[in-house]
Amino acid sequence: MVNILGISGSLRAASFNTSLLRAAQAAAGEGVRIEAATLHGIPLYDGDLEQREGMPQAVREMKQLVLANDGLLLVTPEYNNGIPGVFKNAVDWLSRKTADLPPLFADRPVAVIGASPGGFGTVMAQNQWLPVLRTLGARHWSGGRLMVSRAQSVFGPDGALQDDAVRRQLAEFVQGFASFVAGGKRDA
Ligand code: FNR
Repeated sequence: MVNILGISGSLRAASFNTSLLRAAQAAAGEGVRIEAATLHGIPLYDGDLEQREGMPQAVREMKQLVLANDGLLLVTPEYNNGIPGVFKNAVDWLSRKTADLPPLFADRPVAVIGASPGGFGTVMAQNQWLPVLRTLGARHWSGGRLMVSRAQSVFGPDGALQDDAVRRQLAEFVQGFASFVAGGKRDA
């Protein structure tokens, strides 16, 4: 079994990216399990807070979720042609070391997808994750790309994926990433 943690980078209840993450869970074939997480409860990074109180509980819980899974799927919105602040902020917190937990990103398989109502499907935000992931020492999977554009017609009003072509692309992406993750597992 390949276990992947997917994080949606949007806090919106009706988020297209959270819908995309749910669709990825549904598209995961046999032998692949995707757990979904959101960024609710993660405070703004504050070095004084960190020094005074250590890692906030919400960050600690997210760290444990990442560690409990084999791979990490970032489902990123795009704001002003870049990574949304809330998502980068969460990854900045997660990158901080604690004495009792191992480093999170070093050698961790990571893939990036995203959805946008615009025509370019988060290509700029996805590209901006690359130097971040390189800095963190993550193993970025570049074997597939998924940029969901015109998201308002891809997802129905209830957030369900209603585009069969995107469903196929998503299933292919998840399978490719899962194989990459499995290839790096000692017990694979
Ligand atoms: C956006 N949006 C947006 N979309 C895009 O494709 N490129 C962009 O540069 C931007 N810029 C941008 C800035 C800000 C501040 C906001 C709030 C929005 C639109 C964005 O893709 C849209 O709101 C999505 O619905 C956000 O993702 P979720 O919340 O649906 O997952």
